Amino acid sequence: MAVLLNNNGYGNQAWMEELPRLLPNDLPIYEYPDIPDKEDITYALVWDHPKGDLATYPNLKAVLSLGAGVEHLAEDNSLPDNLPIIRLVDPAVADDMAMHSLYWCMNFHRHYHIYQEQQIKKHWERYPCKPAEDFKVGILGLGNIGSVVGQKVGQNGYQTLGWDLSRKTIQDIETYHGLDQLTDFLENLDVLVNCLPLTSDTTNMIDGNFLSKMKQGSFLINISRGAIIKDQDLLSKLDEGHIAAAALDAFIEEPLPNDNPFWSHPKVHVTPHMSGATYARSAAKVLVNNINRLEKGKAAFPLYDRQKGF
Ligand code: GLV
Repeated sequence: MAVLLNNNGYGNQAWMEELPRLLPNDLPIYEYPDIPDKEDITYALVWDHPKGDLATYPNLKAVLSLGAGVEHLAEDNSLPDNLPIIRLVDPAVADDMAMHSLYWCMNFHRHYHIYQEQQIKKHWERYPCKPAEDFKVGILGLGNIGSVVGQKVGQNGYQTLGWDLSRKTIQDIETYHGLDQLTDFLENLDVLVNCLPLTSDTTNMIDGNFLSKMKQGSFLINISRGAIIKDQDLLSKLDEGHIAAAALDAFIEEPLPNDNPFWSHPKVHVTPHMSGATYARSAAKVLVNNINRLEKGKAAFPLYDRQKGF
């Protein structure tokens, strides 16, 4: 029995500091590609592994993602259908993403993004802003991350609304569900925070039609995946002034290519996919807890649902 670590070589030192002291009974950890015997591997901890590799371990019991998203696993057609794929839900990552979202909500609400530009021009002008309780923040996707983002934003005084495909009840968040209620949800928001997972249903979901349902002058924050937004449509809505500004942390192609118009668009704030980085210091506990549960025959959390795509 052994654990495979394949994080594409990224941050292995931190994982190798945390995992050995948490894993039971000196379970060996093999760092890809140094694998003495493929038959030993029972659990694979991976991010962006080479496609096809996981099908070569005959005794693999489960694959655990080293990041919140699992597209890197969903796209690997060689994975046996009955092999459990476990997503990573690290409360520390969800909290970081919530802090990032709160930062941009405050930024847009209090016009800091405009004051930053004014400083460059040495221009002194103040703008009124509504009380936080009247500033409506909408959370698109109320899963493990969206629900934490919604709570953090709400605890800091903002009026918080949420939408998900299925009905969700979250304290202090006015929730909407299903495509029928999407327009009602979007039409009064001051800012929308996209927390949806990328699936075949959500790809290009935030297109021109979607954005035109949002209020004139509202803001968009994306902490999820770039492919949920139709870039050209967002650029048009920004140019028209329908969307006042966007804070984008994830893109279809990363790193964002030099010639991508988002880099230089005056109403776009680009961050390099940093809103919820995975750190071994907290994530290793979550992963080892799931391995221990699987070893005891219990379910690991949360299991990737191949039908739903998240
Ligand atoms: C980062 O985007 C992740 O999926 O963990």
